[in-house]
Amino acid sequence: MSLPGLIYLIQTAMSNIQMESKHLYLYTIGCQMNVNDSELMAAKLRDCDYIQTDDIRQADLILVNTCSVRAKAEQKVFSFLGRLAGLKRKNPELIIGVGGCVAQQEGEHILKRAPMVDLVFGTRAIGRLPRLVEEVQRTGCRLVDIDMAGNGRMDLDFSKDVAKEAVSGFVTIMRGCDNFCTYCVVPYVRGRETSRTPEEILAEIRSRAAAGMREATLLGQNVNSYGKKEGLCTFSELLARADQVEDLWRLRFTTSHPKDLSEALIGAFGELQKLCHHIHLPVQSGSNRILQKMNRDYTREEYREKVRKLRNICPDIAITSDMIVGFPGESREDFEDTLDLVREIEFDGLFAFAYSDRPNAPAARFKDKIPEEERHQRLLELLALQEKYTSAKNQKYIGKIVPVLVEGFGKKQEKGAKTEELPLPQWTGRTSTNKIVHFSAEDGWREKDLTGVLVDVRIETGYSHSLRGRPIRITTSDFIKEGDETHVT
Ligand code: SAH
Ligand code: SF4
Ligand code: F3S
Repeated sequence: MSLPGLIYLIQTAMSNIQMESKHLYLYTIGCQMNVNDSELMAAKLRDCDYIQTDDIRQADLILVNTCSVRAKAEQKVFSFLGRLAGLKRKNPELIIGVGGCVAQQEGEHILKRAPMVDLVFGTRAIGRLPRLVEEVQRTGCRLVDIDMAGNGRMDLDFSKDVAKEAVSGFVTIMRGCDNFCTYCVVPYVRGRETSRTPEEILAEIRSRAAAGMREATLLGQNVNSYGKKEGLCTFSELLARADQVEDLWRLRFTTSHPKDLSEALIGAFGELQKLCHHIHLPVQSGSNRILQKMNRDYTREEYREKVRKLRNICPDIAITSDMIVGFPGESREDFEDTLDLVREIEFDGLFAFAYSDRPNAPAARFKDKIPEEERHQRLLELLALQEKYTSAKNQKYIGKIVPVLVEGFGKKQEKGAKTEELPLPQWTGRTSTNKIVHFSAEDGWREKDLTGVLVDVRIETGYSHSLRGRPIRITTSDFIKEGDETHVT
């Protein structure tokens, strides 16, 4: 075939692909698990020609991945859906799907409450998503699939085949939760705990690391009980194996339940090269009475002891936590115990929430509910106290040189474009202790693409939720290969 003929054929094929491709707009609410599930949805739909778009007006399919952990998160779903009604009127072909935890919880009620919705799919239906979307499109019927039984392990496969991975990625190692904390909806909307095999997980980490993922965060509602039910290896053994993956430089995990934090896992912080010096260890309350009512199965003393051991083995470890205020029956004394624990532990950061009644969760039926105004006041009081520790911890970094894994340009500066306010490229990354660090690329650094590179940064300023510094040297060996010896030690 002549060259022009071949070019014509390729062009025709390309324009057919473009014509057949449809656009997917994904809106994600909730935890990292949901973020990872959304990536999985996009990957599954990519296989049937859906390209992801940031422009909602271009979408042929809009999916909302929802969270039900507090009433506010649920309200956010319905207000977003309300805003889609106009788009649906303009384009009746548009398919709107609701997935995730609210979908699992509410099922067909969503169809009644939100007439613009075509598809409701639960937390274990992601593997069936392409088929469900195709069926809605073909039949024009509204569908609900919230089946949790026999979900099979295929839902867990994360067979992404993207050429380039983001620097930092989530890897789901298990789904569901068996802990039944009395305030929590997760066991009802995510089902029973199920772990993926180590082989599957390691294969995913290896292939994504080869495609550019430098940091992996292993995800589960309670990673410490990884593999116990299935008789797989322990979580610390899994970490040790992930630590060996070539091309991966950093490992993190979340979430860890204090009751199951083993000696072996504490020891891993002293042994594993790549394990970052940060643990998110949600305590929820400083009062033993409330911890018991929450069904957390540890005391504040036991929690304190675990923190002591962690700090003993890894003195610079950053410890963050979750706290709920205004749980039913929480007296002023109970709340004081919480404030006391915060003073004692000095967390690096705290996610604090006002207690919220959730459907199915037993605490919704507990007596002695705390009035909303009081819950709100306690939340403000706790946040104000924690703010002092968060700032003080950040101030301690001033003058230190810390390795930062660069994730990309700062949010304010799209693709490094220079503006009057920001004339130099602004880079953002994190320390091993999970502190966000910003720095400007000054002379000698301006033209470098630092994405995915480890840079030693001297910290000059500590803000309440981030640090700012000056780049000193690149320590990544990949970069040395590119002939950039000048800044390398
Ligand atoms: N599996 C994780 C938590 C997932 S939910 C763990 O056990 O740590 C994230 C956080 O939301 C919880 O740690 C808790 O602090 C908060 N949360 C959960 N249910 C809540 C409720 N009903 N009201 C207020 N906060 C809640
Ligand atoms: Fe919810 Fe408790 Fe399970 Fe965490 S461990 S997801 S708080 S039930
Ligand atoms: Fe996550 Fe919210 Fe579901 S916290 S597990 S998305 S209820």
